[in-house]
Amino acid sequence: MRLLVTGGAGFIGSNFVQQTVRERPDHQVTVLDALTYAGNRSSLDPVADAIEFVHGSIADAELVDRLVGECDVVVNFAAESHNDNSLAEPEPFLQTNLVGTYRLLEAVRHHSVRMHHVSTDEVFGDLELDDPKKFTEDTPYRPSSPYSSTKAGADLLVRAWVRSFGLAATISNCSNNYGPYQHVEKFIPRQVTNVLSGVKPKVYGTGANVRDWIHVDDHNRALHAVLDRGRLGETYLIGADGEADNLTVVRTILRVLGKPEDWFDFVSDRPGHDLRYAIDAGKLRTELGWTPEFADLESGLASTVQWYADHREWWEPAKHATEAAYSELGR
Ligand code: NAD
Ligand code: DAU
Repeated sequence: MRLLVTGGAGFIGSNFVQQTVRERPDHQVTVLDALTYAGNRSSLDPVADAIEFVHGSIADAELVDRLVGECDVVVNFAAESHNDNSLAEPEPFLQTNLVGTYRLLEAVRHHSVRMHHVSTDEVFGDLELDDPKKFTEDTPYRPSSPYSSTKAGADLLVRAWVRSFGLAATISNCSNNYGPYQHVEKFIPRQVTNVLSGVKPKVYGTGANVRDWIHVDDHNRALHAVLDRGRLGETYLIGADGEADNLTVVRTILRVLGKPEDWFDFVSDRPGHDLRYAIDAGKLRTELGWTPEFADLESGLASTVQWYADHREWWEPAKHATEAAYSELGR
C-alpha cells in the first residue's frame, strides 16, 4: 500500500504517519507538506528514515498530479487549521482548504486512486450549551468562521466529485484533538506551555464554551478503520465522548502542573465563538468497530503535559511569535 499523506508535518498528520510506520510496516508513506508556520519537519524525525518527504503545496496542480499518480491512497490532512488566524486573514484558508482540495480531487480523478478527506465537526456550526443533541452524519452544515466555512466547502467538493465522477472517497469529521506535536497556538498546548514558561493561561470570554476532546492517537486509529473498512462515498463522525468546558480543561492542566486552579486570566472573546461541539460517533463504533483507547481527558492530558515538559526544543522556537500575535489581538 502506497500512501500519500498531505499535511503530514502538522499535528494530526505527523502523529498519523508515526502510527502508520509503527503499526503498518507494509505501508510505504510519502508526505507532501508546504511547511507553513504550522508544519514542522522535526515532528517526523522519529520516522524520517522510513518515509519520503516532499516539500510542496496541495495547490500545485502539476506536483500533486505526479505524486497522486505514484500512490494507491491519498489521505488529506493539509489545511489552514486555526480559527483565530482565519478571522485575521482568511485568504490562505481559501487557497489551501478550497483550491488545494480541488487540485487533489482532480488528480485523484485523473489517476482513479482512493482518497480520504480529513475534516472537522466545525462544519456543523455549534450547539447550545444545554442542548441534549449531538452532531450526527445527518446534521446540516452551518459553519461559523472562515476556517470552518472553507472546510465545509471542501467537504462539499469531495461529495460532488463522488456523486458526479464516481470518485472512490470517504470523509471524516472529527472533534477537537489533543496530544503531542500540536502547535502552541491551539488551546491546550498554549496553556500548558504558558504554565511551563511561568505565564498564566488565557481563557476566552467566560470559559463556558464546550469542546469534545479526543486524543490524536484515537482519531488516527479511527482513520485507519475508515481506510480499512469504510464504505466508499460515506461520511464518518469521529469523537470520544470527551465533552468539557474550557474552564474545566484549564483547571485540569493547572492541577496536573501543581498550580492553584484559579491561576489564569480571562481575556477578550473570539468573535463568533462557537458555543459547543458534541459528536455522536455511533456509526463509526457500530459499523467499523472502533472504540477509543484513551478513556478520560484527565489521563490523556497528564501524558500530553508531560510530553510538552519533555520537548521544550520542539515548541520553544514558535512560542514567542505566537504570543506576540495573540497580544496584538488582545488575547
Ligand atoms: P495543523 O495546522 O497542525 O497542520 C496542517 C499541516 O498542513 C501543516 O503541516 C502545514 O504545513 C500543512 N499545509 C498547510 N497548507 C498546505 C498546503 N497548501 N499544501 C500542503 N501542506 C499544507 O493542522 P491539524 O490540527 O493537524 O489538522 C489536520 C487536519 O485535520 C485539518 O484538515 C483539520 O481541518 C482537521 N481537523 C483538525 C482537528 C483538530 O482538533 N486539530 C479536528 C478535526 C479535524
Ligand atoms: O472541533 C475541531 C476543531 O478544533 C478543528 O477543526 C480545528 O482545526 C482546531 O483548531 C479546533 O478548533 P477550536 O477553535 O475549537 O480550537 P482552539 O484550540 O483554537 O480553541 C479551543 C477552545 O478554547 C475554544 O473554545 C477557544 C478557546 N481558547 C482558545 C485559545 C487558543 C481559549 O479560551 N484560550 C486560548 O488561548
